[in-house]
Amino acid sequence: MIITVTLNAAIDKSLSVPSFRLGRRHRTVDQTTMAGGKGVNVARTLKTLGQPVIATGFAGGPTGTRIVEQLTAESILNDFVRIREESRTNTAVYDPTNGQQTEINERGPAVSSTELELFRDKLLYLARGADIVAFAGSLPRGVDTDIYAGLIRDLRSSDVMTIVDTDGDPLRHAVRAEPDVISPNILEAEELVGHEFNDEEDRVIAVREMLALGSREAIMTVPDGCVACVLVDAVPTLFRVMIEPREAVAPVGAGDAFLAGYVAARYEGRAPSECLRFGVACGAESTSRLGAGLVDPREIDKLMGDVEVRELAEPAEVP
Ligand SMILES: Nc1ncnc2c1ncn2[C@@H]1O[C@H](COP(=O)(O)OP(=O)(O)OP(=O)(O)O)[C@@H](O)[C@H]1O
Ligand SMILES: [Mg+2]
Repeated sequence: MIITVTLNAAIDKSLSVPSFRLGRRHRTVDQTTMAGGKGVNVARTLKTLGQPVIATGFAGGPTGTRIVEQLTAESILNDFVRIREESRTNTAVYDPTNGQQTEINERGPAVSSTELELFRDKLLYLARGADIVAFAGSLPRGVDTDIYAGLIRDLRSSDVMTIVDTDGDPLRHAVRAEPDVISPNILEAEELVGHEFNDEEDRVIAVREMLALGSREAIMTVPDGCVACVLVDAVPTLFRVMIEPREAVAPVGAGDAFLAGYVAARYEGRAPSECLRFGVACGAESTSRLGAGLVDPREIDKLMGDVEVRELAEPAEVP
């Protein structure tokens, strides 16, 4: 079983509004509403890929009820802690006449210490039957930025693999708790290691630095694939995985699809390089679909041959 953790789950509302202008009244020509938040998107992709997954996190108020109902309607198993404050709704306005998208993300609920404790108990309970726990996304208000770090430490005794996709302080703390894998994008990775990357060599050194910070394995997603340092027979091994960038219909959520694909392949016990290849194919496929976490498994299979996986020689020592 795979568990995805979404502490700041949301209802993602997408409105299509032709000739959208500030200060005017509009009618939508199309609209969709989906449960969202990064971990929820990862769970959706995992479900589509046929993997056993339970989505957990916080859900509050009528919006929280809607999140749970939407997941249940999609047959995505879920077990959220119900909280007093209302979960967020994120609204995206898409203008089909010029392709521009405007997003308004709500601030999100505050979570109390009692609710946090309930969540911790639930996660430890769920983890007893799990192989992988994926933490993804931002934090709600009132939660310390070291929460992922604490949960990773709590899970250490339960023999599950932990993987983290977040940014800023939550990522900085999490990496010190020695998770199995982190999967930042370039900007998140630059912030984590504390400097910008100017070339390919910098990126390779950066994934080594992420291991030095505490993660057992590190994957940095880049628009044309990923750079990774993962264990092959317990030996840290560098890979550069590449795919020709496609004209994206919807690039948002590619990282979530990557993570889901990578986790699915790990769960199936595929070779490390093949896990990376599958993740990149999933990320690429997701860019052709509006709606986070949506992928077509047949299209992913077709893309697998377009992904090039290269093992790299050791770079210079980490400075
Ligand atoms: N236009 C594209 N064509 C092909 N593959 C893409 C494209 N955009 C992203 N990908 C793939 O998706 C994966 C994740 O991409 P990226 O680093 O952009 O994620 P991200 O910034 O975390 O996205 P998000 O946080 O919105 O989910 C990468 O492995 C990349 O190869
Ligand atoms: Mg991301």
